[in-house]
Amino acid sequence: MTPQHEIRRRRTFAIISHPDAGKTTLTEKLLLYGGVIQLAGAVKAKRGRASAVSDWMEMERERGISITTSVLAFPYRGLQMNLLDTPGHADFSEDTYRTLHAVDGAVMLLDCAKGVEAQTKKLFRVCRQRAIPIFTFVNKMDRGGRDPFDLIGEVESVLGIGVFPVAWPVFRGGTFRGVYHRLKRRVYLFDAAHAGSSATSGAERPPVEVTGIDDPLVREELDEAGFDRLRHDAELLEAAGDGFDEERYLAGELSPMFFGSAINNFGLEAFLETFCELMPPPRARPSDQGPVDPAGAEFSGFVFKIQANMDRAHRDRVAFVRICSGQVTRGMKVHHVRSGRDLRLMSPTQFLAGERSVVEGGFAGDVVGIPDPGLFEIGDTLTGGSRFAFEPIPSFAPEHFSRLVMLDPLRRKQFARGVEQLAQEGTVQLYRPPAGRAGDLVLGALGQLQFEVVRYRLESEYGVEVRLEPTAYQLARWVTRADGAPLELDDLYGAVEGMVVLDIRDRVVVLFDREWALRTAERLHPELVFGETATGV
Ligand code: G4P
Repeated sequence: MTPQHEIRRRRTFAIISHPDAGKTTLTEKLLLYGGVIQLAGAVKAKRGRASAVSDWMEMERERGISITTSVLAFPYRGLQMNLLDTPGHADFSEDTYRTLHAVDGAVMLLDCAKGVEAQTKKLFRVCRQRAIPIFTFVNKMDRGGRDPFDLIGEVESVLGIGVFPVAWPVFRGGTFRGVYHRLKRRVYLFDAAHAGSSATSGAERPPVEVTGIDDPLVREELDEAGFDRLRHDAELLEAAGDGFDEERYLAGELSPMFFGSAINNFGLEAFLETFCELMPPPRARPSDQGPVDPAGAEFSGFVFKIQANMDRAHRDRVAFVRICSGQVTRGMKVHHVRSGRDLRLMSPTQFLAGERSVVEGGFAGDVVGIPDPGLFEIGDTLTGGSRFAFEPIPSFAPEHFSRLVMLDPLRRKQFARGVEQLAQEGTVQLYRPPAGRAGDLVLGALGQLQFEVVRYRLESEYGVEVRLEPTAYQLARWVTRADGAPLELDDLYGAVEGMVVLDIRDRVVVLFDREWALRTAERLHPELVFGETATGV
């Protein structure tokens, strides 16, 4: 197969959802359909029991939650799927956001009874910023939930994205019995008697080809009430909508919506088929030298995650690199653009579901793990020699803050090194007072769990005991001048009611303990920009 052919087969995506919507279940079904695992329940084991597919860190197993972002690569229908898993726990971290910078599309999973929930909203915003295609899968339809039109309205109004329902739910005797695929004009009906949690249980009958809703075949399959409801719904949908606009979909402005029940395999076939057809392969990626063509011969990629101690036998740090062009092969030389250094990739690793193996040939869209000699930072660009940089991965304003106190003054050096390294890896955000100013070290995180990871790692890797104390801070904003001129720190002291600190890249941050303090600062200082995200150095 030529490299072009390989790239066209890649589908690199993530599933975004609020905890409990069914992400683990859907992931497992994908792996079952992909033939990676044979038994339902294998992925679920990550919640406590035996070994798990996406489960690497000891802490993860102990706590039964997924801290790491793992990569599940598996073949499906002639395609190469790269599913970048994201932490599913409510205490999710910045890893989740960063992972969304490495995907080409996303599946937004909603619970049909709950609709758009808090975490879905946050993750959606990141996808939206990147203008990537977003599929919507409304799950748990077997249980009955909100009215489908109601859910469409909610997605459109709360998230501000258009919705095109592709697979519409049909009911018989009031219960969910299948979907009508509007693009394919097919009815997928499910045989409830054979519903099961295995992909091979034969829960779905072969789809029925129909000319449209009014086809007598549809009526035959449904009862009177179910058919009337479908026809009524179809009329409403036709009246409401334009056709499926592929351009808007590719720009992330229109989400194809599907209904189903992951646990029963209901609606998965209709979803997966269309997902495979519509989800785009890797596209050109913006850089400071213009877009980088995935089919380009020279290797390029960027670091979106750094993970320490994946292999407890050898203390190691691995940088996860999303390949954007060219190929990765064992022993090849790559250029680390930020430092200007070249390094040889002795053992680039690919993450096939469940195991790590040395890369045989990674292409655009794939994720490889590269041993990190302590050089990499989140967002770093690697190339075959050229000096360009991909768009930086933004830092996101944390929502939790904690004061970091060292307990043993004799281990000051180890403490400083450990904290610096963890912040560089992106485990947590670190804020320190500017030189010559007194103040505490403050950690910022998107999820409380990040603090625990810091404490655990400082102790186990650097032998440093720390205490995390609560602070009153609630908001952090990166401050720059609206006119682009350099910001004088002295102008900031006294001008805003907040704590002035520097982040790991020496960018100026103000920590506020109240929303109104931020609003007041914004009102009194139109010459300043208080950013919720930060990019660049
Ligand atoms: P998450 O990773 O998004 O947190 O969700 P997960 O797949 O673990 O699913 C959360 C719960 O929802 C699980 O139940 C799961 O079985 C259930 N679930 C997932 N998909 C469906 C569906 O299509 N229909 C219905 N009715 N339930 C679904 P649990 O009780 O928390 O776990 P378990 O004891 O069933 O494993």
